[in-house]
Formats: sequence, C-alpha cells, structure tokens
Amino acid sequence: GGTLAAGGALAGGAVVATVGDGEAADRPPGAQPVPVAAVGGLVEPFHGPRQAGVATEPQAHAAFVAFTLRPGTDRAALGRLLRLLTDDAARLTQGRPALADTEAELGLLPARLTVTFGFGPGLYRAAGLDDRRPASVVDLPSLRIDRLQPAWSGGDLLLQICADDAVTVAHAQRVLVKDSRPFATVRWVQQGFRRGPGVEPAGHTQRNLFGQLDGTANPRPGAPLDTAVWVPDGPAWLRDSTTLVVRRIRMDLETWDLLGRTDRELAVGRRLDTGAPLTGTAEHDEPDFAATGDDGLTVIPDFSHLTRARVTDDRQKILRRPYNYDGVPTPQGHADSGLIFAAYQADITAQFLPIQRRLAERDLLNEWTTPIGSAVFAVPPGCPPDGWIGQQVLG
Ligand code: HEM
Repeated sequence: GGTLAAGGALAGGAVVATVGDGEAADRPPGAQPVPVAAVGGLVEPFHGPRQAGVATEPQAHAAFVAFTLRPGTDRAALGRLLRLLTDDAARLTQGRPALADTEAELGLLPARLTVTFGFGPGLYRAAGLDDRRPASVVDLPSLRIDRLQPAWSGGDLLLQICADDAVTVAHAQRVLVKDSRPFATVRWVQQGFRRGPGVEPAGHTQRNLFGQLDGTANPRPGAPLDTAVWVPDGPAWLRDSTTLVVRRIRMDLETWDLLGRTDRELAVGRRLDTGAPLTGTAEHDEPDFAATGDDGLTVIPDFSHLTRARVTDDRQKILRRPYNYDGVPTPQGHADSGLIFAAYQADITAQFLPIQRRLAERDLLNEWTTPIGSAVFAVPPGCPPDGWIGQQVLG
C-alpha cells in the first residue's frame, strides 16, 4: 500500500490530511488548502530502480492508453516526449498538479496513482535502437482463438494509468494525452475497474464479471514474484525491466448465464464461492490433478482452465494484473463485458507464450471467451528523481 501525502492517521473516510498547508507552490493561485480523506491522500512512490504499477497492489481504476508515434518522432523527439511525460507522472502521482495544469485542483488527490510506461516494438524502430528491444517484445504469433480487432491491438507507446479514484485517472489521462499530442496520436484506450478500496479486506482476491475469484495463483510478493517478473541483470536498459502483454478478452455473459453452477466450476476447476480447487476446501489449497471421482474421471477436468494454465516452476510464472471492462449493452440488452487481461513477466516467449499456446489449443473456458485485442510492450527500468523513464534506452 501507499503512504499518505501529508501525514495524519488513517481513519475510514475521515479527513486525515490537508494538501497545500506547507506547499503553497503546488496550490493553484488563490486556492484554499484541500481537505484529503484516507483514500485520496495515499501516495505510491514514483522514482526508483523499477517502475511502479506492476508489483503495486492493483488500484480500483485503470486506463491503458496506447499511442502511435507520429512520423518523424525520432530518438531525440522521444527523449523530449518522455522527459515531459515523466515530469507529469512524477508530479501527479505525488499529489502535485502537472506544470501548467489547467485543472490544478484535480491533481491534488493521487489516490495511489501510478503511471507505468511501456515501449512497443515500433518505438525501438522509430528510435533506430532495435538492438535494445528485449527479444521477446514482438507481436504474438496468431492463435486460432483470436478474433483480433485493429482498434484494440498494437501500439508504440503505452501508459498504464491506475488509481483508486476514477476522476484522478481521468485527469492524469487528460494531462498525459495532451502533452503527447505533438509526438503521437492516440491509438486506443481501454478503461477498466476492480473492486473499490475498502470494499473488501486487503489482500482479498478480486472477482471478474463471470463471478470467479481471479488472481488466486498469482506469484506472491517476495522472491517468486521478483524472479518471475523482473529482469535481474544485463545492460542498464534491460536490468529491472519487465514486459507486458495486454489482451482484450470478451466474456460472453449471455451463454455463460445459461450454464449451471457445476458446469461453470468444471470449466475453471475451482469453486465459485471460495475459489478452492474442486479437490480442496480453501482457496489456496493445492489442486490434486490426479484425484478421480466415482465415474473414474479426474475431479478437476483435464481441459479445465486451471489444469491447462498451471505453471509449477516459480520462474516460469506470470503476474496477472487484469481489469474488468463493461461497455454499453446492445439495444437487446446483451452485455459488452470482459477482461483487460494484463500480464507481466520477465520474458514473454519463455513465460507467457507457452501458457497462451496451451490455452489456445484446449481450454474449456474458450467456449465463453474471445480475445479481441492484443499488444506487447517492454516496461523499461524506473528512474531516479533527476532522471526520466526511458533514459537507459534512449539516452
Ligand atoms: C487462473 C479466469 C484468461 C492464465 C485463472 C482462474 C480464473 C481465471 C478464474 C483461477 C483463479 C486464479 O488463479 O486466478 C480467466 C478468464 C480469462 C482468463 C475469465 C479470460 C477472459 C487467461 C489468459 C491467460 C491466463 C489469457 C494466459 C495466457 C492463467 C494462469 C492461471 C489462471 C497462469 C493460474 C493457473 C494456476 O493455478 O497455476 N484464470 N483467465 N488466463 N489463468 Fe486465467
């Protein structure tokens, strides 16, 4: 979790701090200090060897903003763009308005805002630095389950903007998009959400819009997460970097709703209420893939999502950090729902791809899910207070 912007004891919903007391410079001209409640005042660090927004406990709201670089945005121009966006992110995440912020009051409540930068293959090409592109950051091979739409695919630059407040995300998105306009056009934006802060006890696994507990088998903070997600060594542009796969996956609630509870649980291999494997009683019980029932079949179906997605080697795991999306239903009332499936791993080819290939080949869940967007990005290392994101790659 984050720390408070301006001190004060945490109390549910109470005013705990006042932004602007000692920092008149950050206050819009003539404005009064702003009262801050517990969630609004929480701050995630921005500077450091690794970018925030990856291992960060997922915030409630997210906007994934992908850009296409304008022709002529070369290495030098990218440096200017990234210095600008880094400065915006460094301020806004710490509860300070951006430079020349036109809605400065909206910059005062960070609510654990993080801005995570991702570089698509096209950015390295534009910079003439293909030799610094992590080898696994290339378009995924086409899979037979894919129904990809250009409107949700690809991208040269990605900003993953997350906060526990939707207004904070909207303001950060506005500032960052505005400052990128001379250099890039908006390719796609995907907005998503999870449970709000304080709705469930901390550390609780979220539910997706199929009603499933989603995230149970994620690597835990500490050693397993570290080795699976972050590149441990190599040149400065690679060390402490990671990679991100963003897949927009439609979930067909209309046909899912026709399924009985038992079939829903068999599709994943876990119970809907507790998230326990069908061979256990508690969420984090080890599944027993060999256990058979009276009918001689395995209790957890061989083609369940759990069986097919299973990874036992900690180093081969991926960190899933998905958000739900819920668009406008059709006039007939059919939902436009799904997952903005976001996965972080040190290497896409070695970790993400084998899982995705197994699932594409056979996974009961495929009956109700369809990938409609796909994009890959390198997430470069973080930067110190006097630096900028991308400096090790482009500097
Ligand atoms: C596990 C849902 C797509 C990889 C799970 C679980 C659920 C779930 C309910 C069990 C609880 C958990 O451990 O989180 C979904 C839905 C998807 C989807 C609804 C699409 C809309 C994917 C994709 C991948 C993936 C595209 C990777 C390519 C995994 C992995 C696990 C998992 C690695 C953990 C397996 C283990 O226990 O070791 N998913 N998933 N999922 N999923 Fe998915």
